[in-house]
This record gives sequence, structure tokens and C-alpha cells, in this order.
Amino acid sequence: MTSPQSNSPGTRPLGVAAIGYAFMGQAHSNAWRSVANHFDVPAFEQKVLVGRDAGAVAAAAAKYGWSESATDWREVIAREDIDIIDICAPGWLHAEIATAALAAGKHVLVEKPLANSMAESVSMVAAAQAAREIGVRSMVGFNYRRIPALALARKLIADGELGTVRQVRASYLQDWLADPESPMTWRLRKETAGSGALGDIASHAVDQVQHLLGDTVIAASGKLHTFTTERPGPDGPEPVTVDDAAWATLEMAGGAVASVDVSRVALGQKNALRVEVYGTNGALTFNLENPNELFYLNAREPIEVQGFRRILVTEPVHPYISGWWPQGHVLGWEHSFTHQIRDFLLNIADGTDPSPSFEEGLGVQQVLAAIEDSSAAGGATVTLAEPAISTTRTS
Ligand SMILES: NC(=O)c1ccc[n+]([C@@H]2O[C@H](COP(=O)([O-])OP(=O)(O)OC[C@H]3O[C@@H](n4cnc5c(N)ncnc54)[C@H](O)[C@@H]3O)[C@@H](O)[C@H]2O)c1
Repeated sequence: MTSPQSNSPGTRPLGVAAIGYAFMGQAHSNAWRSVANHFDVPAFEQKVLVGRDAGAVAAAAAKYGWSESATDWREVIAREDIDIIDICAPGWLHAEIATAALAAGKHVLVEKPLANSMAESVSMVAAAQAAREIGVRSMVGFNYRRIPALALARKLIADGELGTVRQVRASYLQDWLADPESPMTWRLRKETAGSGALGDIASHAVDQVQHLLGDTVIAASGKLHTFTTERPGPDGPEPVTVDDAAWATLEMAGGAVASVDVSRVALGQKNALRVEVYGTNGALTFNLENPNELFYLNAREPIEVQGFRRILVTEPVHPYISGWWPQGHVLGWEHSFTHQIRDFLLNIADGTDPSPSFEEGLGVQQVLAAIEDSSAAGGATVTLAEPAISTTRTS
């Protein structure tokens, strides 16, 4: 492993490269471009955007604010002037790119899920732990942790406002695969995506359950299902080898029980991440389709006036809001990525470990693997072999 670049604040701006320029590449580019307008972060430069098609990535780089483009991520990782690698490529590349970048002393932000398999995830954690020893930081992109309303929900739960949490319902429903004629993509092949709705969106839901409660899953039972088993490919019909939808019941170490259901064929549901948390003293509900709102019921109030209260999470005292607009001037989905980059840059500057760490990403993978194993065993409860990596609160 080489030593980290001279990346302490005040030497030179941190050099950033992003790998992938499609959906997440654009979302992350937008965050890199806007973060310093709203938050005090260490100086950085959007240096290189990497893709496979030279012309297309050059056009994207110019549009999204990157100084240069490149087609070989290995060459970019080897550059002295690059300090941060932001991986926005599909899951099958996460382990290879992240371990190479960390070994080269680059800080790494990698999109979720951490990887396509447990073996890859474990190798990434080993690389992150070795890199951490020499001050190289790593983070996995569960961006919904940084939606202000969900960050507030975590704080209220940590402050004891709900009492003891008994039950969580987390669902993440989309419908972009509802049409059986929707064509094959890398997301529908096990070898490129690892799994379907499970890794793609249950990963977010499971991360939310563990993060909101500051607790870990110890056992899971689940079911995966594929409704459309063949889809049109470039050379004719191709088998779909991942799930369209998944269901799970999760037992938490602290005694709560969570249900998770996710689907990419739930007609009419566009990007509905819903979370409900029920405790002994209160309850919270959230829906990503109304991301500025958190509903809170305080069961300690007189029953005559009890009811879910709508909190518009746009006050300067709310998480991340002081960097934005006056109260009521609402934020959207993309701001979660800006907050993610802000926190990652501050961790690098402060020499502290980002969260979610690769260990936390592995913790989510363990739960997903248990759900998959349970489904293969007809829904039998699977105890996690090792407790999922601790997500003990640090803040
Ligand atoms: N956090 C979220 O809300 C969220 C949402 C969507 C996707 N994701 C995750 O982001 C990652 C990427 O997903 P996406 O939707 O952006 O995929 P995408 O298919 O839209 O884009 C993938 C990009 O990777 C590039 N790429 C592929 N192979 C490459 C290579 N060898 N070298 C350089 N670039 C290469 C492609 O050119 C493309 O630009 C996945 O891990 C996915 O799970 C996260």
C-alpha cells in the first residue's frame, strides 16, 4: 500500500475522480458541483470523470463540471493528483475498483449496495481497514441517511421520544419493471447485479432500519419472487436471473421486529420509500415522495389531542437545513447526495471515519444474504452467523 497523497487541508485542493457518468454519476456530479455553495468544506477540484465511451464521457464531463474525462479507471487511480475516488459504476465493479483505489491510498466513496456478494464485501472491508490505518477514508453511499427528515427521525428515536421501539415497517416500492416488455439491463442479471430488488432497494430499507434504531438484525426470514422470468434482450428473449420483489421479517438485537417489503413492479409506486416506527411512547412515519415531512405521534399527550403531527423539516435547527434556504423552502431527493459529499469531505478533513463505513455496508449485505437464504429454504428463519457489524451510535 502506498501512503496517502498530500491531502491535508491547506496543502492543495483534494483531487476528485468519479467513475460512471449515468444515473448516479450525474447525481453525484450535481452534489460535487453544489456542495461548496452551501457548506464549508475543504477545497477540492472535480478533476476527472471516467466512463467507457470516450466521446460520451467527454460530453458528460463538460456538462457536469469535470475538468477532464478518461476511459481507464486504473490509470486515474494511479494519478498523483487524485485523492478521492467516487464509484458510481454498477455493483460488479465495486470491489475491484474500491480495493485498488484504497491500496493506492485514495479515499473511496462507493455507491450502494457495497458489492454483489458477501465474499466481495468482506474483501472490501479488509481493504478499508488496512487503508484506515494510514488515514485513508471509505464510505458507502446509503444517501437516504442524509434526507433531513430521516436524520431527524434517527435523532428523535435516539433521544428516547418513542420510548422502546417495538415495531418498524419499511417498504420501498417502484414500478419501472412492471411492463414485461421492459428490456434486459445489467440490473436483471445475477452476474452483474448480484440480486434484484433485494440488493437494489431492500439494501436502503435494511440500512434505514438498522440506522434509525441504532440496532442490528440478528435473524431474518424472507421470500424473493420474480414475476417476469424472461425479458427482451438485444438478441432475443433473455432469462431474468434476479428477483422483482422481496419480503422479509427481521428480528433486531434490541428486541424490535421489522418488516421490509420491496418491489420494482408495484404499479403506480414510483420511488416510495416508506418508514414507520412504533414505540411504547410514540410513533414516526415518513414517505420519500414527500421528503420534507416527518409525522410524529406523541402518546404521552392527552388522548383527546393525540394524533400524527406533521413536522415540516425545513427549520435551520433541523439536520443539514442551515446550509440551504429559509424555512419552508423545500429540499428534494438530490440534496441527500450533497449532504453525503459534505460529510465525507469533513471526515477526510477531520481525520475521522465516515458512516456508513464499509463494515456497515457489509452488515447490510449479511442481512440481504440471510433473506436470500431464507427464501431458498422456504421462508425458514435464518440466524445471522455473526451479528451484523455494529452500527453503535457515534453521533
Ligand atoms: N443511492 C441511490 O439512490 C442509487 C440509485 C441508483 C443506483 N445506485 C447505485 O449506483 C451504482 C450505479 O448505478 P446507476 O444507476 O448509476 O447505473 P447506470 O447503468 O445508470 O450507470 C453505470 C455507469 O457505470 C459506467 N461503467 C460501467 N462499466 C464501467 C467501466 N468498466 N469503467 C468505467 N465506467 C463504467 C457506465 O458507463 C455508466 O456510466 C449501482 O451500485 C447502483 O446500485 C444508487
